[in-house]
Amino acid sequence: MVDRVKSCCASFYELPVLTLLYGNALHPGGVPLTRQLAGAALVGRGDRVLDVACGCGESARTLAEHFGCRMVGIDYSEENIRRANVLTEDVGLADRIHFLQGDAEHLPFANDSFDVVICECSLCIFPDLELALTEMKRVLRPGGRLGISDVVLNEPLPESLQDLVGHVLCISGALPIDGYRDVLEKTGFSAVRTRDVSGVLSDMITRMERRIGVIENFLDREQFELANGLSASFTTIAEARDFVLSGGAGYALMTGKKPIAN
Ligand SMILES: C[S@@+](CC[C@H](N)C(=O)[O-])C[C@H]1O[C@@H](n2cnc3c(N)ncnc32)[C@H](O)[C@@H]1O
Repeated sequence: MVDRVKSCCASFYELPVLTLLYGNALHPGGVPLTRQLAGAALVGRGDRVLDVACGCGESARTLAEHFGCRMVGIDYSEENIRRANVLTEDVGLADRIHFLQGDAEHLPFANDSFDVVICECSLCIFPDLELALTEMKRVLRPGGRLGISDVVLNEPLPESLQDLVGHVLCISGALPIDGYRDVLEKTGFSAVRTRDVSGVLSDMITRMERRIGVIENFLDREQFELANGLSASFTTIAEARDFVLSGGAGYALMTGKKPIAN
């Protein structure tokens, strides 16, 4: 079941139609929010930075270019890694960024390898969020910083959104802000800070709806279904939209630090 959830999420975020809707930054707030997150996580020139669940690598390219750091991106999807490599070669940044396929819950890096770890709009889709955070902390050097952005629940989730589609859409695995704070502290991060940036989530929905209006005429609805038996995905997407726009969910930046002495 756990592997099915991971494969399902990876296949969904490979759909070409998502690039039409989101661009290459597969998270609310796009590149401007990535730069804000990098600032909050004190990313500096020459830092070794890991992007967990890097998608097509837009954030890795942004950080390498604007902050002068050395980037590694990891994603469960082979296809997203292939695209990340192509897009990065196209803009001449391949010597500063390395992408590889892998699982956030089992990071293939030695302890203390990175100065900063970021993870955007993905923590809540990992089946074992605590294990993923423990891995992020393990690969950070003592004193290293963590930067997370993710969906936050403001109200209890309706039962109709508590399915696999809701999970892939970053809704059903999301936590209230205090829930994230608790799990960050439980996994050993210190100096945990959170910042509400919910406006980016409603903006993203509005923008996507405008684009859906344009592409609906040639969209193959079956393409949008995640796997056999998930034909209700369109209904869930509409319910998720209503839930977010009525204030049921928002978006936040979260930062923390790996203590110098464990
Ligand atoms: C919402 S997208 C975010 C991508 C990227 N962080 C961005 O903002 O552009 C979620 C990403 O998580 C990846 N993913 C899902 N489960 C994963 C796992 N267990 N380990 C690593 N990546 C995973 C998916 O393949 C997808 O690229």
